[in-house]
Amino acid sequence: QKGGHKHFMIKEIFEQPKVIQDCLCGRLGTDLDEVRLPELDDLPGTPKRIHVVACGTSYHAGLWGMYLLEQWARIPVQVEIASEFRYRNPILDPDTLVIAISQSGETADTLAGIKLARSQGLKVLGLCNVVGSSVARESDAVLYTQAGPEISVASTKAMCSQLTALLLLALYWGHGNGNLDEKIHRDVVHGLRNLPDLLESTLPALRDKAHELARTFSDVNSFLYLGRGLHYPLALEGALKLKEISYIHAEGYAAGEMKHGPIALIDPKFPTFAIAPDDELFPKVKSNLVEVQARSGQIVALTNVGLDLDVPHRWDVPRATGPLSTFLALPALQLFAYEVADYLGKDVDQPRNLAKSVTVE
Ligand code: F6R
Repeated sequence: QKGGHKHFMIKEIFEQPKVIQDCLCGRLGTDLDEVRLPELDDLPGTPKRIHVVACGTSYHAGLWGMYLLEQWARIPVQVEIASEFRYRNPILDPDTLVIAISQSGETADTLAGIKLARSQGLKVLGLCNVVGSSVARESDAVLYTQAGPEISVASTKAMCSQLTALLLLALYWGHGNGNLDEKIHRDVVHGLRNLPDLLESTLPALRDKAHELARTFSDVNSFLYLGRGLHYPLALEGALKLKEISYIHAEGYAAGEMKHGPIALIDPKFPTFAIAPDDELFPKVKSNLVEVQARSGQIVALTNVGLDLDVPHRWDVPRATGPLSTFLALPALQLFAYEVADYLGKDVDQPRNLAKSVTVE
């Protein structure tokens, strides 16, 4: 059942190249230059505004999607934790599309958010993994994320599929409404086609490095994860993965928020995990890391070969086209959490106090 792996979690992390492939299947075939999403035919065209409602890892996927949907399709997006959304009497405009993201499709707060939106006349698009689940049934249209069954309580491949689906939506709407630059569209489509192979060939080295780093950092009490832009939601996700399976406290922060508080915590026993790939925000992240180093903080940095960054634990991953770098950073974060938890002998697939699907609020 675990396909020769020690845990479902590691099996599912290694399934991610296929998950991307399956999520693209029929939506971006080798013969297609444009994204096809017939599932959206039941909705009234490109939305004027989007409200994303989700919990946990699915919420982090939604935050990531916001950056791309706003940048490429120029559609204003608000992302909200479902348990906040449902109780705060939100002001909802019927022109707004609600995107409800849920792996299980059974999360009580997300379902309540869907019902609230629909009761006020809004259309809901479910981004969901489990076919026929409650989220799928309660939504006006469903984009299945095609990740296959996820057994490990900590979500890994499901997030990868949610990000793929959100990327397809941003390409689809951005191309459709003319806001997405043709060259970016072409380059990303090309990059997406090669992404499963690139990830497949990179995963073994990512695991080796995660294994090595886990031995260096498994005795710390706390970790700070930093990222900017698209990599800020990944910092949140990296921290969530570490805390839920290794029980090491971790906090994800937007790197620019460092000097607004968390920098006070930095000392040699409080390491920072930075996501610092080659993008326009790299110089900003780099300067945040200089400040961490000046306070004797240890640093692990996920970055790209050739970038000028001098930190004690540099983790070079291959370059990918624009936002596709996320699909290499995400498994690195998952693998680091996995290797730490496994090294510490934790129950990786069934962490204490957690359930796979949260059907009560
Ligand atoms: C974290 C995790 C949870 C879920 C959250 C939402 O690894 O699995 O944070 O992401 O409970 O679940 P779904 O996506 O099923 O609505």
